[in-house]
Amino acid sequence: MSMNRRRFLQSAASLAALTSFASPSAVFARVDTRTLTAGITSKRLVPGADYKEATVWAFDQTVPGPELRYKQGEVLSVDFINELPEGSSIHWHGIRNLNGMDGVAGLTQPEVPSNGQFRYEFPLPDSGTYWYHSHAKTWSQVARGLYGPLIVEDDLDPQVDHDLVLIIDDWLLAEDGTIDEASFGSLHDWVHGGRLGNWLTVNGASHPEIPVKAGARVRLRLINAANARIFGLTLPSAGTLIAEDGFPRTHQTVTDITLAPAQRADIIVDLPTTDWILMETRNGGPYPAVTLKPTERPIDLVAKTALSQRTVQTPPSTIDVEIPLHMQGGAMGNLREAMYHGKLMPIRELAQQHKKAWAFNGAIADHHGQLARLERNQVASIQIYNDTRWEHAMHLHGHHFWIQREDGTFVDGQRDTYLFERGERSNLIFVADNPGRWLFHCHMLEHHEAGMAAVIDVA
Ligand code: C2O
Ligand code: CU
Repeated sequence: MSMNRRRFLQSAASLAALTSFASPSAVFARVDTRTLTAGITSKRLVPGADYKEATVWAFDQTVPGPELRYKQGEVLSVDFINELPEGSSIHWHGIRNLNGMDGVAGLTQPEVPSNGQFRYEFPLPDSGTYWYHSHAKTWSQVARGLYGPLIVEDDLDPQVDHDLVLIIDDWLLAEDGTIDEASFGSLHDWVHGGRLGNWLTVNGASHPEIPVKAGARVRLRLINAANARIFGLTLPSAGTLIAEDGFPRTHQTVTDITLAPAQRADIIVDLPTTDWILMETRNGGPYPAVTLKPTERPIDLVAKTALSQRTVQTPPSTIDVEIPLHMQGGAMGNLREAMYHGKLMPIRELAQQHKKAWAFNGAIADHHGQLARLERNQVASIQIYNDTRWEHAMHLHGHHFWIQREDGTFVDGQRDTYLFERGERSNLIFVADNPGRWLFHCHMLEHHEAGMAAVIDVA
């Protein structure tokens, strides 16, 4: 979508609060404030007269919400209007944000009440593929449709014929095609792999066809918006993976991509002149996810020149603070008891009475448990041991991090969400250069709610 952006420069003084990432001379450009309204609407998820429309929760009445596109260095300004029957907020996933604009209800702001309003306004320091979603009761609100893409462009973006956002979700639907309401809050889901759906959508539609120019060069911006599903996507012809979680990585030729909840991947593909069908292959399929269909006349295609490699930030060589993190819990796990609200409780009581099932270092932390307090610019290493029988998509707010494997080598590039395998021990290393109270949690949203969350405080 093209937004009406009358740009004008603001004086450095009035933007003082917004320039914490800027070099002293940088000036952020403001764009017009737009609104995003969360409300209830209906949407046909399953085609055909045998199925009903689903009642969904949506930004601006569409799922996904409207595509927000900005340029690096612009200031996003959004008036969030909450027309839901309960409190909500918007988190701008992956943005190295100002803490007060991070949108974590109960941590960085009070939830915006029903019929309330809140202005989000912050600079966009990095280009890349991001997304926004509710950050209140996420296990329910995100599952009901409260998410959308946030794209930040810059002048070094490769020239393409089509820049396509593919936001992938799995919905748990009842027989009649409406959202399965009865299973919300299911303890079984919370202690196992989270809420897993039975209906795959891309951009809100089941196996959509997107018209493209034959032989076009496209940029695919894949976003996993599912509560808990890990997608495995198989490309019918190889592409070049250029970025993950918004940040550049060493170019890699790929035909398969694993995308954990909240992760993103940017892939450049030179399409053939025939249908190009992206398949989901990790979850019992294969299922066709989306077809790029050459229907437009192939005029004026961009030249298929070699892609230029962007700088990939190398990890820091020294660590200032080590933060051990022993993750336990869940079904078939070894957690017998854990601290909760200052009291040691057996796992059975935690699960049945408090719906808590996962612990960090023997404690159920919730939003308010502090994992670490860091001085500004310290290099921290969270030494994670996933001592559970489940995979976890660990997300750190406000920062991108490097992953160092047990053998000392690093995963390429930087991420904001990393999938820990069962039994994995890896270090999550980041520079604490963004002051504030930042949530660190599992993006399998049921795991988050059931205990896998803590706060990292940066002075
Ligand atoms: Cu996608 Cu705590 O966020
Ligand atoms: Cu998890």
